[in-house]
Amino acid sequence: MKIIKTKDYQEMSKKAAFIVASQITIKNNSILGLATGGTPLGMYQELIKLYKEEMVDFKEVVTFNLDEYYGLSGDSEQSYRYYMEENFFKYINIKPENIHIPDGMAADVSLECKRYNRLLEREGAVDLQVLGIGRNAHIGFNEPDDEFKADTHFVKLDDDTIEANARFFDKPEDVPQKAISMGIKNIMQAKKIVLLANGLEKADAIKKTIEGKISPEVPASVLQLHPDVTFVLDELAASKLDN
Ligand code: PGA
Repeated sequence: MKIIKTKDYQEMSKKAAFIVASQITIKNNSILGLATGGTPLGMYQELIKLYKEEMVDFKEVVTFNLDEYYGLSGDSEQSYRYYMEENFFKYINIKPENIHIPDGMAADVSLECKRYNRLLEREGAVDLQVLGIGRNAHIGFNEPDDEFKADTHFVKLDDDTIEANARFFDKPEDVPQKAISMGIKNIMQAKKIVLLANGLEKADAIKKTIEGKISPEVPASVLQLHPDVTFVLDELAASKLDN
């Protein structure tokens, strides 16, 4: 496990963008696992800059997003598909057919989970998985639970997650209560993982993840078992770590 402490959000974002860009430089057809939320926005902006400067080329890159709200269509402004288009994909040269995001409007959600798992298996291991972390230490929408869910699954969101995500919606009751999420096995199968966190509200989750016991109650703690994981933290998110 590697921990990179950065001074602020901007430095965290730049560092993460360099890690992603160097992955693509090493392997132009890399499979990236991507995250949404407030945390990676700066990283996407830095990657767009690198693309415009011709430092990175997404022509052969394949992406898999971690999760999607259930019941939102891709053109709904709060869906993760919309987020990805608006904040990243529309600015780069990725091929639309290389973008994978669970379908939040699938009529049969268990079939959709199976389809997404099969796609992940067919493409082979994700080369680099980017993660954020919830205040409750969720990764993707793998919420605290009494067991780790291995595969892509349908999930009822935690009250804490719904509250944290309410900032993106007009009314708290508009926040979807359910989602489709890649599972812990899907995430752990990635060859490399980089987890980003900033702000004091993530400090407890980061401490438990890195220094605590491995437990499905702290989903991100499973990353202690991954052979190539890098935490890129700002000062506040790292502020409760022992070292
Ligand atoms: P955030 O969400 O980046 O909006 O804080 C992270 C997460 O829930 O994984």
